[in-house]
Amino acid sequence: MQLTDFEKAMLDGVNGRAKAAAMDLLVRYGEAVGAERLVETNNVAGAFNASTPSVKRIVDKGFDAVYSELNLDSDEIVEIPHMAVNTWQLITGIDNDNWALQGADESLVQMQRDSEAYLGERGVNMCATCTPYQVGNVPIKGEHCAWMESSAVIYCNSVLGARTNVEGKESTGAAALTGRIPYWGYHLPENRFGTHLIEVDIAVDDMMDWGLLGYFVGEQVEENKPVLNNIAHHPNMVKLKHFGAAAASSGGVELYHIPGITTEANTLAEAFGPHKAVKTIHYGHKEREAMYMKLQSATDRKVDFIMLGCPHNSIEQMALIAELLRGKRIHPDTALWVHTPRAIKQVAERNGYLRAIEAAGAVVMSDTCPAISRRLPKGVRVIATDSAKQAHYLPAIANVQGWFGSVTDCVRAAISGQWQGRV
Ligand code: F3S
Repeated sequence: MQLTDFEKAMLDGVNGRAKAAAMDLLVRYGEAVGAERLVETNNVAGAFNASTPSVKRIVDKGFDAVYSELNLDSDEIVEIPHMAVNTWQLITGIDNDNWALQGADESLVQMQRDSEAYLGERGVNMCATCTPYQVGNVPIKGEHCAWMESSAVIYCNSVLGARTNVEGKESTGAAALTGRIPYWGYHLPENRFGTHLIEVDIAVDDMMDWGLLGYFVGEQVEENKPVLNNIAHHPNMVKLKHFGAAAASSGGVELYHIPGITTEANTLAEAFGPHKAVKTIHYGHKEREAMYMKLQSATDRKVDFIMLGCPHNSIEQMALIAELLRGKRIHPDTALWVHTPRAIKQVAERNGYLRAIEAAGAVVMSDTCPAISRRLPKGVRVIATDSAKQAHYLPAIANVQGWFGSVTDCVRAAISGQWQGRV
C-alpha cells in the first residue's frame, strides 16, 4: 500500500506509539482488502466506551489498555493521546440514568462513567446514539467518514451522500488517532452505482411502510445496491432512517439511491451510471403483506415489553408518542421503553413530552438499546416494536416472541397489554 511521508512517519513511531499502532492496524486492514492507499477522514463514529462485564478484566490495567486492545488490536499497552480528528461515540451498553431498570450492576455503571471521562478528555464526543446525524454529526456529500453501525452507515452513504464502509471498533479507533482510513469499497466513486432496480408499485408513506419496504429490499438484494423507482410520497428523515435500518438488517445494504430524493442521483441513469440494472424487482401489496407476516414471530397476544426508538427516536417521534400517551396509563403487566439520543431527551423534557410519557408509566432511555445492551425487563416473553430492525434481531437475541407494527399499534399494546395490530 502506498503511504505518504506523513503516514510513513506515523507508522515509524515519530508521532508516538499509539499512532504507530494505529497505522500498523490500518496498513494490515488496507492490505487485506486490497486498498492501494489511505484516505483522509475528519469524521469518525465508533464504539470506544467500556460498559460490558467482559471489559472489566482489561479496565484493571487502565483505560489506555482498553483502547490499545479493543480499539487498536495492539498487544502492547500504548498511551492514548487526544483524538486527531472529529470523533463520536455511538450507542453504549448502559443508560447512565436508568441503569437500575436495565438490571445493570452499579460497578459497571461507574466503569462506563470513568471510561466516558477518559474518552471525553481525549476528544471523543459522547453523543451515545446510533443516529449521530440526528444530533449534529451530518457529514456532507462526498465527505470520507469512518463509521460503524449498519443503520448509521446506510444513512450516511445514501441519504447524505458521504462515504463510509461499515467499520469496526479497531478501524475506527485507528482512524480517530490518525485521520486516515483505507481507501476502498464505498470510498471509491465507481463502487457507488446502483445494481438492482426496485419498482415500487404501491404507495409507501408512513414509517411502518418504509420499514416493510426496507425489509423487503434487503432480503432481495442482500449486499447489493438497490435503486428505488416510482416513489409516490416524498419521505423524510424518520422514514429513511427506518427504511435503511431494515434494509441493513434483512440484507447487508450499505448504499441505496432514490433518484430525485437521495443525494447522489437525480435520475435513474445517474443512479446506475455506466451499468445496467442486473435485476428488476417489483414491490406490491403481496410483498408488503409477506414482509409484515415475516416480522411477526409472536403468537401470544399478551405483550410484556414494548420497545420504541430503533434507530433512536427523533424529536417528532417523541412528540407523537407523548401525544398517544397523554392522560393514559400503560398496563400494569407491561413495560414501555422509549429510546432517544440524550440530546433529544433534553428537548423532549423542555417540551413536556417526557412528562407525558413518564406520567403514563413509560421510561425514556438514552445511550443504549435492548439489542446492544442485551438488557430487557426481567421475565419478558413477548415484545412489540415499531422497528423492523428490532423485530428482526430482538427475538433471536433475547429468546422472546415479537410483534411488529405501527407506533400507534405499539402504544395501544402498552396501554391494553394486548397486541391488536393488523397489516
Ligand atoms: Fe440503534 Fe439499537 Fe436499533 S443500535 S439501530 S436502536 S438495534
